[in-house]
Amino acid sequence: KSLKKHNTFGIDCTAQSYVSVTSVSELKQVLSEHKNDPLFVLGGGSNMLLTKDIEALVIHLNLKGITILSENNNEVLIECMAGENWHEFVLYCTENGYGGLENLSLIPGNVGTAPIQNIGAYGVELKDSFVSCHAISIHDQNERDFSKEECNFGYRNSIFKNEVKGEYIITSVTFRLTKTNHILATSYGAIQEELVRQNCDTPTIKAISNAVIAIRQSKLPDPQKLGNSGSFFKNPVIDVETFRQFRREHPTAPFYEVSPTEFKIPAGWLIEQAGFKGLRFGDAGVHKNQALVLVNYGNATGKEIWELAMKIQRRVKEDFAIYIEPEVNVF
Ligand code: EPU
Repeated sequence: KSLKKHNTFGIDCTAQSYVSVTSVSELKQVLSEHKNDPLFVLGGGSNMLLTKDIEALVIHLNLKGITILSENNNEVLIECMAGENWHEFVLYCTENGYGGLENLSLIPGNVGTAPIQNIGAYGVELKDSFVSCHAISIHDQNERDFSKEECNFGYRNSIFKNEVKGEYIITSVTFRLTKTNHILATSYGAIQEELVRQNCDTPTIKAISNAVIAIRQSKLPDPQKLGNSGSFFKNPVIDVETFRQFRREHPTAPFYEVSPTEFKIPAGWLIEQAGFKGLRFGDAGVHKNQALVLVNYGNATGKEIWELAMKIQRRVKEDFAIYIEPEVNVF
């Protein structure tokens, strides 16, 4: 089976075999029947680059459903199944007046994969409204919850990328969202500009969601039209010594202070300065509006995208002595 429609990069790799599961019990059954077989768990396919055919049973998580677990006048505890599309879930929440996820509008992918990399945008991260997630052990099919503390969230990072990598399948995620006294995150310049443009002086969660959608649509390519996986690299965090040296050589470079000893440099800026923005090599390219996004113009192979990524990584290292690390999972 071709996986071209199952990864937002649109890479035409095949799966040795494929099964789509629609319930947790079905998932457990598939896992127990294939105890000794290589498995590959597929969510929304929005944060991965396939560089070869998958010699495994691909399990597509098609678990759907949204449940209000409890609510009072101020808050709602809401559980969303892993196979729901992230953006549709965010729209559902904003339409119903539940605040907390509006800055994360239009991020590709499914709800179940969002905690793995603690998705974030425009000053908000998933962890800010995350309560817990439910998961199944691939090894013995035992079910368990992971609390927010256990998830150990960091910048594009969690326990699921470290200590328990590849051991669990997240089946649902529970969030605590606001019904009143929403905490609006409008500090990002781009959001403020967009709100002004929309003549919105008392922002609502819906207005912020609309602003984020407008910003993302203006610079990030729609995976339906142009294959991509969002930011291909993480923004590198460098220590204060490296930062001082970097600033001496590049006094106009943008940066964010993460802590007094750590500074984050936008990888998009580094890649643009290295001359890659808008470049195209065959069907593999660097997006013209956002250098952090690699794109597939149609028939690029995963290998071609990966070679381009490595060329960029090498050049950034040569030009700036900074190592940029991929954000997407490469297979
Ligand atoms: N920049 C350039 N050239 C470019 C792109 C960026 O010079 O081609 C510089 C600009 O100075 C700009 C700065 O980089 O001000 C930051 O750019 P932007 O606001 O677009 O954010 P980013 O650092 O490129 C991060 C996240 C995005 C998230 C945005 C908004 C990572 C790896 N990426 O991108 O997340 O949407 O901030 O909060 O942290 C994703 O993870 O897939 C993703 C899209």
